[in-house]
Amino acid sequence: MSRPAARPVLKTLATSMLMAGLALGIWGFAPLEFPRTHLTLIGLGFSAALGGVAIGRFSNLGTAWLVLTFIATPALVLVPIYQPPIWVFPAIVLMLAGFYINGVREQVPLYLSNRRTQDAIAAIFEQTNGSTFIDLGCGLGDVVSAVAGKAPNKHVIGVETAPFSYLIAKARNIIMGHRNATIRFESIWNTDVSDADVVYAFLSPAPMARLSEKLKAEMKPGSCFISNSFAVPGGEPDEIVIVDDSRQTQLLIWRM
Ligand SMILES: C[S@@+](CC[C@H](N)C(=O)[O-])C[C@H]1O[C@@H](n2cnc3c(N)ncnc32)[C@H](O)[C@@H]1O
Repeated sequence: MSRPAARPVLKTLATSMLMAGLALGIWGFAPLEFPRTHLTLIGLGFSAALGGVAIGRFSNLGTAWLVLTFIATPALVLVPIYQPPIWVFPAIVLMLAGFYINGVREQVPLYLSNRRTQDAIAAIFEQTNGSTFIDLGCGLGDVVSAVAGKAPNKHVIGVETAPFSYLIAKARNIIMGHRNATIRFESIWNTDVSDADVVYAFLSPAPMARLSEKLKAEMKPGSCFISNSFAVPGGEPDEIVIVDDSRQTQLLIWRM
């Protein structure tokens, strides 16, 4: 089965450190005439961040990792020079935890389904003629937004427990005005999927066995489960849809 962008954590770290190192090198070794002002230093930090994002994009890093690169690179440039007060570090950790806490709790970090995958999922939902779609672990709400936009008469639900991801998904849903979509602060393990026609999840190998047991016990006959990339141990999918994107995303489909 295909995996999400290979080792995204290492790629993000390596890219951020490389670009920050380059910026610090320029700062340290530039000729004396180089204007060493706050503005040039901050400019260097964010130029390095943009370079990092470009490299990340080129190496297929997902949006969430690109955001992390954009934050981490200038931080690596500015922190050694400004040496901010100690509370800044727990504040940064808290901020990251707001998005990535489930990486620790559930071994499921935040990365996002790309646009082509969202379209493919919306098309599968449309083909089923079902009326309720649930994204288990909806991240920033990308899939919910895409499916709700394409199926305005259907009910689309996203559940999420990473606080900042939930808040962004919720705000986005309000801004987009999707009256048919609901974002809930709720664990996938407490989500009632018995009314769902299509359940979608893009998680990791870790929860798949437990999730499969839950879905088999709760989902109604005729409904289907779509897993982005990750198989259920010992259970061959009924269908695999390969998305025409750079990582040839596999949507594994099980019919109940
Ligand atoms: C890989 S992201 C997928 C996001 C979105 N579904 C998409 O495809 O773009 C997985 C998300 O599941 C969330 N998650 C993991 N375990 C969860 C749980 N037990 N309850 C709710 N959300 C969970 C994570 O916080 C993360 O945002």
